[in-house]
Amino acid sequence: MTTNPALERLGVTASPLAMLLLGRDADPGSERGVECPGDLPPAADPDLARRAAAAKAALGDDVFILGHHYQRDDVIAFADVTGDSFKLAQQAAARPAASAIVFCGVHFMAESADILTADHQRVILPDLAAGCSMADMATAEQVEQAWDDILDAGVATGTVPVSYMNSSAAIKAFTGRHGGTICTSSNAERALDWAFGERGGQRVIFLPDQHLGRNTAIDKLGMSEADCVVYDPRRPGGGLSRAQLRDARMILWRGHCSVHGRFTRECVDEVRERVPGVQVLVHPECRREVVSAADLVGSTEYIIKVVDEAPPGSSFAVGTELNLVQRLANRHPDKTIVFLDRTVCFCSTMNRIDMPHLVWALEALARGETVNRITVDPEVATYSRKALDQMLTLP
Ligand code: 13P
Ligand code: SF4
Repeated sequence: MTTNPALERLGVTASPLAMLLLGRDADPGSERGVECPGDLPPAADPDLARRAAAAKAALGDDVFILGHHYQRDDVIAFADVTGDSFKLAQQAAARPAASAIVFCGVHFMAESADILTADHQRVILPDLAAGCSMADMATAEQVEQAWDDILDAGVATGTVPVSYMNSSAAIKAFTGRHGGTICTSSNAERALDWAFGERGGQRVIFLPDQHLGRNTAIDKLGMSEADCVVYDPRRPGGGLSRAQLRDARMILWRGHCSVHGRFTRECVDEVRERVPGVQVLVHPECRREVVSAADLVGSTEYIIKVVDEAPPGSSFAVGTELNLVQRLANRHPDKTIVFLDRTVCFCSTMNRIDMPHLVWALEALARGETVNRITVDPEVATYSRKALDQMLTLP
């Protein structure tokens, strides 16, 4: 075990695994990584912040940098806007003047930005290895197979796809083709209300995060566990009978976030004993047992708002990605902010975006070159856009 005072303040123990999760010393073969085709500056270069600032200044309004809340502090310092997935999608769509959008986030976010921006705008993901393990849990072929199973059960007409933003463009296109909507953790309730209300659905197939789907259906729409079934893409027929598909109100895809999946009911019980008066504040990607034991549940933007607005002396145990929790703790020394788990829990792919990659991407743009551009196939983009536009017009 190594000791790290900043992590210890959050109640976290650093282990050698923590370094692997950060992507350092990791086996590159275990990531779906892509070698950078250029010369990255060394991570130890003390000049990285100055170089990023100089390249950004040279580019002026031509570049717009978006930063998700899970990004590292040194990277987030260069973001023109920070936000949750929903806010970043809105912001990407609202900047037609910038010819280059540098997305400090993960692949599905950059794809969505490409879909929502004009053709002349280039969306750049500084490290192409910044994927999302949850998004990878639903492939287009698997989802088409699931739809065939729903057709076979005779219930496709009343079934509305609602797909989490954390999905590939191909899944978003599937959603658009079948008259569904995209949602994020900040509007999942409104998306389900729309699907069962205005859209007239009798059931929803919710992709790919079973936990967000289940937590929203139960806590916000008043459904029960019995209304939900889990479709496992690795089993014939999803492991469900026709009757189960027919009777379900929520067909939940068997996918999850590997970061939020680490939090358990025991973590909640343990922190309540350890920190008297603590409020447990978690992301809805956490498992049902965690969300039902928590005091407050919401998207990253919501988590930040709750902590920012709490009076001095408040205590929170936060169940979300560690970069964000550390940033909140540093910003609020007058509040007690601990991490819900006792061990380190970074999102390894979010952490792929680091200063060497950011400097590399910005300096290339300043020289008139584009690296790591994310482009979505036009037909896929057309149907994905339909589903994304539906989300952006949710009441
Ligand atoms: P939000 O920022 O929308 O809450 O999403 C969290 C997340 O996991 C993004 O990958
Ligand atoms: Fe994907 Fe989870 Fe990382 Fe978000 S935190 S990018 S859902 S793996």
